[in-house]
Amino acid sequence: MRYSSLAAVLVLSSSTLSFSAYAAGNLNMICSADVVVCEQMTRIFSQSHPDIKVSMVRLSAGEAYARIRSEARNPRTDIWWAGTGDPHMQAAEEGLSQPYKSPLLDQQQDWAKKQAEISNYRTVGIYAGALGWGYNTKLLADKKLKEPKCWADLLDPAFKGEIQIANPNSSGTAYNTLATLVQIMGEDKAFDYLKKLNANISQYTKSGSAPVKAAARGETTIGIVFMHDAVAMQVDGFPIKSVAPCEGTGYEIGSMSIIKGARNLASAKIWYDWALSAEAQSHMKEAKSFQLPSNRSAEISEYAPRFENIKLIDYDFKTYGDSAKRKALLGRWDKEIGSSAQ
Ligand code: G6P
Repeated sequence: MRYSSLAAVLVLSSSTLSFSAYAAGNLNMICSADVVVCEQMTRIFSQSHPDIKVSMVRLSAGEAYARIRSEARNPRTDIWWAGTGDPHMQAAEEGLSQPYKSPLLDQQQDWAKKQAEISNYRTVGIYAGALGWGYNTKLLADKKLKEPKCWADLLDPAFKGEIQIANPNSSGTAYNTLATLVQIMGEDKAFDYLKKLNANISQYTKSGSAPVKAAARGETTIGIVFMHDAVAMQVDGFPIKSVAPCEGTGYEIGSMSIIKGARNLASAKIWYDWALSAEAQSHMKEAKSFQLPSNRSAEISEYAPRFENIKLIDYDFKTYGDSAKRKALLGRWDKEIGSSAQ
C-alpha cells in the first residue's frame, strides 16, 4: 500500500512537473523589425503570458533567412516575427516554415491574407510600409543640395558620398529596394541605376534602418529606408524629412512564420495568434514603429505614412519572394555592385 501510494505520488509529481514544464514553455524567436519594437513586443507578450519564456534575437531579414536555412536539419528557432515579406516567402517556398491557419486570419487586411494564401499558409502579413528615404534637412541646407524627390535625383553627382543604403544580402529593406527598382525599370536598367548610385553611396550597412539613423546623427545626408523608419527619426526630434519617390515605389508586407520542426510549437502558435490581434498590433506605435498594421481593427498611428498618399507599384510578392529569383538578383548585385563597393 505504502509503496503504491508513493508510486502514485511520484507519478503525479512527475506528470505535474512535465505539465508545468510544458505550461512554462519556451519560445525562441527571431525578430526582424527594429530592435526597439522587438524588445517592446517581447515585453508586452511576456506580461500577458508569464508562463512562456521568450528568448528573442534581432536579425535583419536576410540574415534571419540564412540562419533558418542553416538550422533546417535541427531547428533552434520556433517563430520568426516581422521583417520584410520577401525572405519569409522564400523560406516558405523552401519548406522551412510550416503551415498554420490562425483563427485570427479573418480579422486581417486582404494584403496580409493574400501573403498567407500565396505561401500555402506558411507565412502571413503583419504590417505594411512603403519604401522611400529620409534626408537630413539641416545637412542638405548647409551643403546647398537640392531636395531629392525622385529615384533619378539620387544619381546627381552632388550627392557623392552623401547616401547610405543597406546591403541586400543581409537586409530585407535593401532587397525590397532592389526588387522595387527592377520592377520599376526592368532588370538591366535597374542594375545600371544601381551602378551609378554606387558612386554616391558612402556605406552599405547591415541593417535596413541604419542609414536613416546615421542621417539623424548627421553622419550621412540621405538614408534609403522604409518611409516609416524615416518618420520615426522625425518623431524622435531629428531634422529628418521622409520622401515618397516621384516615379513610384515598392512596399513591404512585414510577415511572420512558424519554423518547420519548431520544438515549442504550442508557444509559437500562442505568439502567432497574439501577434495578429488588434490589441498587440496597437502597441507597435508606442515603440515608434509606424507601419500599417494587418489587423483591420488595430489602431493606426497618426504618423504612419498612408498608402493613399504614396504612388505605389503593384509589387509582385510571389515573383520576388521566389528563392531562385533571390539568388539570381543577389548574385548579380554581388558581382556588379557589391564587389566594387567601398
Ligand atoms: C525596419 C523596418 C521594418 C522592416 C525591417 C527589415 O526595422 O521598420 O518595417 O521590416 O526594417 O529589417 P532589415 O534590417 O532586414 O532591412
